[in-house]
Amino acid sequence: MTTITVFKGDGIGPEITDAVIKVLNAANAKLEYEVFNVGAKVYEETGEYIPEKAFESYEKNKILLKSPITTPVGKGFRSLNVTLRNKYDLWANIRPAKSNPCIPTKFDNVDIVTFRENTEDLYVGKEEQIDENTVYAYKIITKKASTRIIRAAFEYCIKNNRKKLTCVHKANILKMSDGLFLHIFEDIAKEYPQIESNSLIVDNTCMQLVMHPEQFDVMVMPNLYGDIVSDLTSGLIGGLGLLPSCNKGDDYAMYEAVHGSAPDIAGKHIANPSALLLSACMMLEDLHQESVATKIRNALNKTFEERKVLTFDLGGSASTDAFTDEIIKNL
Ligand code: NAI
Ligand code: MG
Repeated sequence: MTTITVFKGDGIGPEITDAVIKVLNAANAKLEYEVFNVGAKVYEETGEYIPEKAFESYEKNKILLKSPITTPVGKGFRSLNVTLRNKYDLWANIRPAKSNPCIPTKFDNVDIVTFRENTEDLYVGKEEQIDENTVYAYKIITKKASTRIIRAAFEYCIKNNRKKLTCVHKANILKMSDGLFLHIFEDIAKEYPQIESNSLIVDNTCMQLVMHPEQFDVMVMPNLYGDIVSDLTSGLIGGLGLLPSCNKGDDYAMYEAVHGSAPDIAGKHIANPSALLLSACMMLEDLHQESVATKIRNALNKTFEERKVLTFDLGGSASTDAFTDEIIKNL
């Protein structure tokens, strides 16, 4: 048995968390859960967004299954997601987008893993009011953070038999910051001659992705481009309801859907829990419960394939609960 910490989050968070725990239990995952409500509702009740007990649980268990947390736009609120990634130095954000033959999309050959640097770039959130009409935002790129994410991406290629790694950047304009990231990439690439490596400017990357996604294999990039490009890759495989991720550091791991709290559909019980469920499968694989993960992936695929019970984003009209029960039936 492994004890994990679970954060229920905002918006659709509680709905998809309940669904995922139901499937994990039905699949006999060897897991025990310490579940915490976090986010806006908890703040209204207690004055804290993430209760101290929730942090303590994570610090003990080191593994967090996390639902999305809302980040209001505007002044005076730092994203709790960014806070968690920094507090626990979760420096690698890994987002695998793979076409599923059971989900019809424009492309059937997408298999792209994005390695997003997760601790710096513009996401340090350091902004400065210069005068009434001017704000500066700091983009931080360091050798340390760039080296570890780029090396992790190359090592991932080796371990998983992936052939090509693309560095995404804007070093033509940001010659010093993205230039540093790119130079480190080119240096490290020399140590991995067996992996084909190339680099591509981020705007061109976006165009190439929507025209010819099959040319991409594994990609590595600074934080902001990773955020944007990975939402794009989710669109290639059928939408945000399907894209899982893990955030990893040296000591901690956090598994979450790529999507946010989806306030537009929250409380309607129609959210697709697949992205969080697939994130849980990534967690099970890391915990050496591969057979449980495979069982869940197969049941999910069968549910997609049958096309009887699907959530709205996949062209169906089923509730989150009905979709979840169908997955459990297919286990
Ligand atoms: P979003 O990812 O929550 O939603 C974008 C669109 O995708 C919406 O139309 C939504 O209904 C749909 N969608 C997302 N997940 C879905 C699912 N599981 N099933 C069906 N449809 C789904 O992005 P948005 O609306 O820009 O952000 C909402 C809030 O979430 C913001 O406060 C943002 O800061 C936060 N956020 C949190 C993240 C996290 O906790 N890691 C990641 C991204 C955003
Ligand atoms: Mg995002």
